[in-house]
Amino acid sequence: MQLPTAALLLLLLLLVVAPSDAHNITRILEKHPEFSTFNRYLTLTHLAPDINSRTTITVCAVNNAAMDALLSKHPSIYTVKNILSLHVLLDYFGAKKLHQITNGTALAATMYQATGSAPGSSGFVNITDLHGGKVGFGAENNDGTLSATFVKSVEEVPYNISVIQISNILPSAAAEAPAPAPAKQNLTAIMSRHGCKVFADTLSAFKDALNTFTDNLDGGLTVFCPLDDALKSFLPKFKNLSASGKVQLLEFHGVPVYQSIATLKSNNGLQNTLATDGANKFDFTVQNDGEEVTLKTKLTTAKITDTLIDEEPLAIFAINKVLQPKELFKAESPAPAPTPEPAAADAPTPPKKKGKKKTPAAEAPADASDSPADSPGDAADDTADDSNAALGRYVSVALALGLGLGLALPLVL
Ligand SMILES: *[C@@H]1O[C@H](CO)[C@@H](O)[C@H](O)[C@H]1NC(C)=O
Ligand SMILES: *[C@@H]1O[C@H](CO)[C@@H](O)[C@H](O)[C@H]1NC(C)=O
Ligand SMILES: *[C@@H]1O[C@H](CO)[C@@H](O)[C@H](O)[C@H]1NC(C)=O
Ligand SMILES: *[C@@H]1O[C@H](CO)[C@@H](O)[C@H](O)[C@H]1NC(C)=O
Ligand SMILES: *[C@@H]1O[C@H](CO)[C@@H](O)[C@H](O)[C@H]1NC(C)=O
Ligand SMILES: *[C@@H]1O[C@H](CO)[C@@H](O)[C@H](O)[C@H]1NC(C)=O
Repeated sequence: MQLPTAALLLLLLLLVVAPSDAHNITRILEKHPEFSTFNRYLTLTHLAPDINSRTTITVCAVNNAAMDALLSKHPSIYTVKNILSLHVLLDYFGAKKLHQITNGTALAATMYQATGSAPGSSGFVNITDLHGGKVGFGAENNDGTLSATFVKSVEEVPYNISVIQISNILPSAAAEAPAPAPAKQNLTAIMSRHGCKVFADTLSAFKDALNTFTDNLDGGLTVFCPLDDALKSFLPKFKNLSASGKVQLLEFHGVPVYQSIATLKSNNGLQNTLATDGANKFDFTVQNDGEEVTLKTKLTTAKITDTLIDEEPLAIFAINKVLQPKELFKAESPAPAPTPEPAAADAPTPPKKKGKKKTPAAEAPADASDSPADSPGDAADDTADDSNAALGRYVSVALALGLGLGLALPLVL
């Protein structure tokens, strides 16, 4: 009786400990305040999740003074991204390997090269052993000048990630060239071309919703568009929604930040949407398992099936189901609806109220009265979710036990 309990606890402990396996460049650099600016810009440029999703890489960090020198030229964030991506080598160079390079010199491809936008050989870094144990670094297209030197090793996880400090930012005319902000993309055109035409047409028919999406384009936007078959079979339910409910359902499929596929794969958790507005949460959960990313509401589990575009500041992914927010649908097993006409949803029949999502007070009551089945929403949700709640409690207890044991173990050993 003792033994199984101990075994269970050990298993729980392993479960708790296991996920910390992958490296996290943000966490590594956090321990070193001298790289805080570099670290912050890895996050701002969304390079961090890309770095975390790779193995066998070397990050050439520079200290805050070197970053200040770069930033004093006021480069755009897109230019900073190009420059910093030149500082991530797609090979593993620990301090030892750096000082034992075959023939004393090597070219390393970088993440800048991997973007495909580096002209000529500008995406490569030349690493050369110099006199007196020094190691020089230079962008390959920089007249053969090795303008930075190895300072020290910051952290090495052999053959996964090496973080080293170099003396300064590698000058590179190509990487420093002003990178234009990505041209304003035509959302509906991209969706239409890639299997989400019904969603695009529906969005175009609801200008309020479409405007909410396009207003967020500059600051960052991620769209999860249901594939045509999924949306077609959902149209009967869609048409049943109130005018504001339809807009909310559409806006529920957008997130007001740019999330690359790498970010989604490395982040589990609640996600606010364009429909989120004060008390109206309209959120869903991102859950990933290896290469598969799912989006969950209480009623739907949708899977990302395709990437239509993933270029900062815009990402559009296709999903295999329409996401049903619990705010609009009560928990019930969806009755398979007869397949409707292939056309997009009708244009909104009821004339639109000013309808921007800025007016939650006006919208919320309208929804409740339009879909009476939903008004005692919480009660309905609660019954449907007892099992979830129970699972949640179980997980909390498990976590607490695992944590307790984790703390106790070092004392025992
Ligand atoms: C990496 O570490 C940072 C800071 O500790 C944390 O905010 C972030 O969520 C971590 N990322 C992943 C993918 O675990
Ligand atoms: C080292 O130099 C020799 C002779 O120049 C050459 O044949 C060999 O390919 C070089 N090795 C590497 C790894 O560059
Ligand atoms: C790296 O640069 C040095 C100095 O310009 C040069 O001698 C060396 O050949 C270069 N290495 C490679 C692999 O191109
Ligand atoms: C290195 O990366 C591999 C693949 O992601 C992982 O399985 C392994 O645990 C990592 N090793 C270390 C020491 O973190
Ligand atoms: C986007 O493309 C669609 C065709 O798919 C076109 O009708 C629409 O006018 C375009 N929108 C903008 C803002 O260019
Ligand atoms: C539309 O709403 C009515 C009334 O609430 C309901 O009886 C019907 O099943 C709904 N249809 C669909 C397709 O959800």
